[in-house]
Amino acid sequence: MILLSGIQPTGRLHIGNYLGAIKNWQEFQNKYTSIFCVVDYHAITVYQDPKELKQNIYETTALLFAAGIDPKQSTVFVQSHISAHTELTWIINCITPMGWLERMTQFKDKSQKQGKERVGVGLFDYPALMASDILLYNTDVVPVGEDQKQHVELTRDIAGRFNKLYGKIFKLPKAIIPETGARIMGLDDPDKKMSKSDETYGHAIYLLDSPDDIRKKIMRATTDSLKDIRFDKKRPGIYNLLTLYERFTGDSRKAIEKRFQGKGYAEFKQELADIIVEGLRPLQNKYKELTVDKSYIESLLKQGADKARPLAEKTLQLVKNKMGLL
Ligand code: AQP
Repeated sequence: MILLSGIQPTGRLHIGNYLGAIKNWQEFQNKYTSIFCVVDYHAITVYQDPKELKQNIYETTALLFAAGIDPKQSTVFVQSHISAHTELTWIINCITPMGWLERMTQFKDKSQKQGKERVGVGLFDYPALMASDILLYNTDVVPVGEDQKQHVELTRDIAGRFNKLYGKIFKLPKAIIPETGARIMGLDDPDKKMSKSDETYGHAIYLLDSPDDIRKKIMRATTDSLKDIRFDKKRPGIYNLLTLYERFTGDSRKAIEKRFQGKGYAEFKQELADIIVEGLRPLQNKYKELTVDKSYIESLLKQGADKARPLAEKTLQLVKNKMGLL
């Protein structure tokens, strides 16, 4: 079974990306033939500063390896290194009705924020590019967050339409939403998803944050004026911090609540900060090791692209043949 997932190099990776995606990917690679893609063409659907983008592509990839994605076992590459992704996107554009894309809630949300006049066509077409990423590799399963599920369903519809028009080529992929992929919320505002593009200090804990920063951010994280430490969804601040505790320790909710019975928020936060500092230490050490020589990560990316390219090109060629392109 082939698994494919992607991550956008839109900023520094945070513990939400780690717990919601990368940590699961590391486990998936033992079960599936795994392909992980740093989706830089998706990232540029909103403006990215060129210098920062370059650094983010490098850092994102190095962090995937530091988090235990094994380049011998999995295929890791940068989307723009394989031109078949954009070529297939054009073909998909030609068979995808506008109405299908107009129904995508993520586009509606993002374009509402920026205003339709300012938003690029690429943002509208984002799901077609995502469909192309998935379909090029005969993907069976796509682990995604809840917000991306609709895009995988659209990919199935596009694949089905192509197969009907030109003959069967594409497999219909399935989205898997990891149960353990709890949505981590912003530390400054627990009603908002923790997000790379929100750069407010204290919003996110980045994977490369210093112990000092991690402690500061946890200690000032928004909670409430109540006292007891319980998993209660109606109290999003403390619920979010408890979820982090749960995910970093692997302890049961019951055990965690018992441990902090009668204790105050300050004591809980101090312990949580220590746990996150220690939890990220191996990854941070590995990152340092891997990035001593910058060309090492670049060589792994080249290897990844060389491995993925023939698969992508084979699919693209089949598609072109079916459509009558010479
Ligand atoms: N807060 C989160 N909690 C759990 N999982 C999360 N993911 C992102 N934020 C959280 C998961 O990380 C993977 C990679 O996401 P992405 O880079 O493709 O885009 P995203 O979901 O839009 O991530 P961000 O951090 O919020 O970036 P920006 O600010 O650029 O939009 C996905 O599997 C996602 O579910």
